[in-house]
Amino acid sequence: MQAPTGLLKPSSKVAVLTGAGVSAESGIPTFRSNGGYWNQHRFEDLATPEGFFSDPKFVWIWYEERRRAIAAARPNAGHEALAEMEKRVAAFTLITQNVDGLHDLAGSKNVIKLHGDIWTLRCLKCGRERVDRSELNDLPPFCACGGMLRPGVVWFGEMLPEGAMERATAAVRAADVLIVAGTSAQVYPAAGLITMARTVIEINPEATAFSDDATYSLRGTSAEILPQLLLD
Ligand code: APR
Repeated sequence: MQAPTGLLKPSSKVAVLTGAGVSAESGIPTFRSNGGYWNQHRFEDLATPEGFFSDPKFVWIWYEERRRAIAAARPNAGHEALAEMEKRVAAFTLITQNVDGLHDLAGSKNVIKLHGDIWTLRCLKCGRERVDRSELNDLPPFCACGGMLRPGVVWFGEMLPEGAMERATAAVRAADVLIVAGTSAQVYPAAGLITMARTVIEINPEATAFSDDATYSLRGTSAEILPQLLLD
């Protein structure tokens, strides 16, 4: 699938919404597409406060497995194209549902992490947060204050980080174009951003509920199509 050319100009104001599909070509499983996490596990057991508190060790074993897999992964051509795009347009905001940090590793600067960050640990007792990329052997991990640590990610039913949706909404409303890459667009409030955009370029090998309304719905992978969108 060839992307239309000339969509992005140096004067463009661009917002991007990414999901797990953007990291698929870095070897990181998605959640709902083939082989995804929610095809093997119940999200209620792994990505809700109730699931965590009913078996913190079980949930931490899953998060630490993901941390190790992500630690071994590298950003792919899709991540790198977005980092390059940011340098070439007038305004750029990358809104991601991903917690893997691969956009940061690729060099993206203006990143809004709607669902938190798998490298951040937060103490349930004192609330202190720290970035810790080390291999966590004793699970669940504990804070120096004695409190149990949880992953610094947003679970189903939890509030998004303070101000994240406000900043994301402002960026999408101000943008000339919203690129939506690698998301099934099934989780709100993130998916709601798509209806706020004037021009939408969707990049996904599969159709989503938003494909029919997208200005351009490009059937293909993000590593293949995002580089094609760079200014020609
Ligand atoms: N390039 C682009 N898109 C891809 C690729 C690829 N190489 N491979 C798969 N996809 C698409 C799939 O077709 C699917 O539409 O990526 C999408 C991934 O959808 P999900 O697995 O539902 O992931 P996501 O949309 O990010 O989920 C949103 O749900 O479980 C929560 O917090 C979790 O942030 C996550 C949220």
